[in-house]
This record gives sequence, C-alpha cells and structure tokens, in this order.
Amino acid sequence: MTMAPKVELHLHLEGAAPPAFIRGLAQEKNMDIAGIFDETGGYAYRDFWHFLEVYEAATSTLKRPEDYYRLTLAVLEESAASGVIYSECFLSPDFCGGRDLSAWREYLQAIREAADLAEKRDGILLRGIVTPIRHFGPEKARETARCAAETAGSWIVGFGLAGDEKIGKPKDFQWAFDAAREAGLRLTAHAGEWGGPDSVRDAIADLGVERIGHGVRAIEDPALVDEIAEKGIVLEVCPGSNIALSLYPGWRQHPIHKLRERGVKVTVSTDDPPFFHTTMVKEYDRLAEAFDWDDGVFSEISKTSAEASFCDNATRDIIMKKLEKHYA
Ligand code: HPA
Ligand code: ZN
Repeated sequence: MTMAPKVELHLHLEGAAPPAFIRGLAQEKNMDIAGIFDETGGYAYRDFWHFLEVYEAATSTLKRPEDYYRLTLAVLEESAASGVIYSECFLSPDFCGGRDLSAWREYLQAIREAADLAEKRDGILLRGIVTPIRHFGPEKARETARCAAETAGSWIVGFGLAGDEKIGKPKDFQWAFDAAREAGLRLTAHAGEWGGPDSVRDAIADLGVERIGHGVRAIEDPALVDEIAEKGIVLEVCPGSNIALSLYPGWRQHPIHKLRERGVKVTVSTDDPPFFHTTMVKEYDRLAEAFDWDDGVFSEISKTSAEASFCDNATRDIIMKKLEKHYA
C-alpha cells in the first residue's frame, strides 16, 4: 500500500525549520546562535519555556521575505515526504515584519510563492493561520489581528493564539479574536497543554474558538470532555510534542485514545517537528503501536481533519477525494 495521505492542522512554520537550515542562515548573516544547538546539531532546550526562547533565537535568523520563501520550501518538502497533502501553518506578523502591514504583505507573498511552487512540485497544499504570541501581550495581538483582517481570504483562513499559555487569560485577547472573526477568519487557540481544563473552557467561552490547539488536558475534567464532544470542537492533538515536553511519560499514557473513545473529534499534528524529533510518519507509527490503531482509525482521523480544516469547500473536496481514493 502507498504511504497514507495526511492532513496536518497544527504546525508552526518557524518551528518546522530544519536546524541545518537555520544554522546556514545564521552563517550567511554572521550571527552567533551556536548555543541553541546540541552536539548532534539538533535544537537544544530544557523545557517548554526554554523551548520558546530557543524558538525565538532560531527565528531571529529569518530577517527577510526571501528567508521565509526558502523556509517554506524546506518545510513543505519535509511535510510532503511524510505524505502530508494539506497543511495549515501558524504565521506570526510579529516575526514577519514586526506587525507592519506592508511588510507583512511582502512576507506573505514570499510564503505563498513558495507554497505555489511546492504545490506544483509535490502536490502539497498550504494555508495560513495568523497567530499572535500570547507572551507578547494583548496590544501586539490587536496589531496582529489588524494584519490578519487585511489579508484574510482563501489563503489566510484562520486566526490563532500561540506562545506561553501561563501568561494572561484568553479574555485578554477577545478584541483581537472578535476582529479576526469579523474579517471572516476561523478561530483556534492553544489551550489545555500547560493550562488545565479551565484554560480550555475559557478559550471556548471567551474567544469562541471552534478548534483547540492541544486541548489534551481536558481529559482531567469529564464534564468538559462531554462539552467538547457535544459541541463538536476539534482538538489539534500533537502527541509527540506532548511527550517530548514531558507532559506525558510515554505514548501509551497519552490521552488521545481516551478522548477519541469519549467521542471527541481528534486530529494529529507535529507542532514543531525537528524540535520534538518527530514527523507525521512517526506520529502515525507510534500511535498505531501504542493503541493498536489501524487504517480505519487513521482514515477517520484524516477525514475529521479535512472536515475541520479552515480551507474553502473546493479545496476540501480535493483533499477528501485523495483520502477517499487511498482508503477506499
Ligand atoms: N506551543 C506554543 N507556542 C509555540 C509553539 C508551541 O508548540 N511553537 C511556537 N510557539
Ligand atoms: Zn503549537
């Protein structure tokens, strides 16, 4: 059987940068970021908060739209090699032009040109979710929402919230999310990874999101699991990320299987694959091993992902046809 086609809904573009690519950029620009790499050349970090610092240091090498063009090509090549046919990635005007609208448009154009080339080369489709960084604060998130609203359309399809989940509350970002919704963007937010069940409740109630990034700690509150299942809220689960960051001791202890059994719509993504030593192929393989998941489960999960993607229906039909062809 050919490799399973996969739909990925939760990927941070900079977090998917191969370490060798970032090292190359640093060399070209005479920047010294040697401290973010370990002796084997991979990214080195102690915990999630240190990961965020290393992430921002790596991202500091991406200074021009041209750098994002090359980044996007490198990332989509890796994703396509894992069988990904459709990917939604988080993009932050904070990193792409410092929230200046005309600079943001230039970065976006470069990213889209690379995505067009990757589509012709590998058949992979990319769409963007504009994402403020929570620990940069609500005021910057408003500026980010303005960038998002100005570029909303068939390619920028969503608005999210990343960064340090322990800083501030979802409600602090309500203005930004309202502006994004009014611009026609679909909404998701990171919650229930470092925050407990209440962080998931707050994201649903205060931001009106239809998807949650991670959300796995909802499992600690059975009533919340029921609410998520009833409302059809989709979890962008990144098991390998959670295990790499020691949220759970191992694959068998990860709650994705229980959440699914409780009727929650779960999807599978890599988050920041080289940081967490994962790929979509590894995620599928480890899940199959840990929970005895077969093709029937992966078929259902990938169709759930296609249904929950923020793309237009014509794009969704293309994805769905590829999934149906493989799993027929
Ligand atoms: N989680 C939260 N914020 C992030 C991440 C992540 O995995 N990657 C980049 N920003
Ligand atoms: Zn994430």
